[in-house]
Amino acid sequence: MFSDRVVSGMRPTGALHLGHYHGALKNWVRLQSEYPCMFFVADWHALTTHYNSVEVIGNNVWEMVIDWLAAGIDPAQTILFIQSRVPEHAELHTLLSMCTPLGWLERVPTYKDQQEKLSDRDLATYGFLGYPLLQAADILIYRASYVPVGEDQVPHVELTREVARRFNHLFGREPGFEDKAREAIKKLGSKRARQYAEFRTRYQEKGDDEALEQGRSLLDEAQNLGMGDRERLYGYLEGSSKLILAEPQALLTEASRMPGIDGAKMSKSYGNAIAMREDPASVTKKIRTMPTDPARVRRTDPGEPERCPVWQLHQVYSSDETCQWVQVNCRSAGIGCLECKQPVIDAVLAEQVVFRERAQPYLDDPALIRAIMADGCEKARRLAQETMRDVREAMGLAFD
Ligand code: TRP
Ligand code: SF4
Repeated sequence: MFSDRVVSGMRPTGALHLGHYHGALKNWVRLQSEYPCMFFVADWHALTTHYNSVEVIGNNVWEMVIDWLAAGIDPAQTILFIQSRVPEHAELHTLLSMCTPLGWLERVPTYKDQQEKLSDRDLATYGFLGYPLLQAADILIYRASYVPVGEDQVPHVELTREVARRFNHLFGREPGFEDKAREAIKKLGSKRARQYAEFRTRYQEKGDDEALEQGRSLLDEAQNLGMGDRERLYGYLEGSSKLILAEPQALLTEASRMPGIDGAKMSKSYGNAIAMREDPASVTKKIRTMPTDPARVRRTDPGEPERCPVWQLHQVYSSDETCQWVQVNCRSAGIGCLECKQPVIDAVLAEQVVFRERAQPYLDDPALIRAIMADGCEKARRLAQETMRDVREAMGLAFD
C-alpha cells in the first residue's frame, strides 16, 4: 500500500541561487532517478509570511519552476505541481486540525524563531501557527516515505509523524476493535498483559521505539495467540489497526557550504547571492570582488584558505588537483587572489551555461511550462483524492 514515494516542496521566494542548487536541487535531481518523486511549489506556505505582498508570489512561481528544470529536474520522471492547484491539501489540513493539539504547534521551534527573525511582519496569525500542519498535510496526502529537507525543517517532519500516528490511532480502527483487543490481551496471561500495557504506554505517550520493539517481541513469543489476535495487538500497541496515513522519514539534505559573495551563507535576504541564471558579466564581477583572507593584504603576503570564502567555493567547484594548487600557492603567496578565483569563475560560468540551455525552451514558449504544471497538478490530484477517500471514510464523512 505504501510506495517509496519522495515528496518535497519549496516556497516561491524569487529566482533561485547557487545555494539552492547545491543544497536542495542537486539532491532532488539525484533522488528523481532513485524514487518516484513529487516536487511542488508551496504557494500557500509563502502566503503565511507574505500575505502582505502577494504580487511576489504569483510572479515567482513560474520562474522557480524554470529554475528546477534548469537544474535538471525531468518532468517526464517526476510529478511537478502547485500546492494551491490541489485543494485536497487544504481539506486534509482542516481535518487534521480537528485532532492536533495546539501545544504541538506552539512547540515547533520555527514558530517562535521565525516570529522573532521576521519581526517586521505580523506573524501572530492562525495561518502561521498552522504552517507545519499544512506541511504535514502536503506530505501525508501522498503517503510519502521520504521527505528531503534541510535541518531547519526536520521538526516539521517529526510533527508530521506524530500527526499521522495520532490520526491512525484515533480513526484507523475496525468496528469493535477496542473490545477485541482487550479480549486478546487477557489471553496473554496477567504478567505478560501487564508488560504489554507498559510497553504500549511508553511507546504511545513518549514515542519510545525500544518499547515498541519489546512489545512486538513479547507478542511474537506469546504462543497461545491466534493470527488475528496477534495482528490486533500489534496494531493496538502502535495505536492503530489499519494504517490510513503513513509516517514519513526526513532525508536530511546536507547543509550547503556555499558562501555568498560576502563570505556569509548565501541567501537572497542577505543580498549576497548569485542567481542560477545570472548573466555572466555580473557573475564574473561578483566573484572578482569577493573578499578573501583578510590577513592577505598585499600580493606578497601568504594567505590561509581556511579563512577565505573563495576556498569554500573551490571545495564546491574545483577538482582535487586545483584544490591542492590553491592550498599550496595561497600559503606560499605563489598566486594572487584574482588568479586563484579564475578557476571558480570558469566553473560557475560553465555550470550556468547548462542551466541557461535547459531553461531556454521554456522562456521561448511559456505555454510549455504551463502544460507541464497542468499535467503534474492533475496527477497529484488523483493521488490526493485516493487518500482523501480513505480519510473521509475513517472520519465518518463518506457521503457519496
Ligand atoms: N516548509 C518548507 C520550507 O520552507 C517547504 C514545504 C512546504 C515543504 N510543504 C512541504 C517541504 C512539504 C517538504 C514537504 O522549506
Ligand atoms: Fe583566498 Fe585564493 Fe586568495 Fe588564498 S589565494 S586568500 S584561497 S582567494
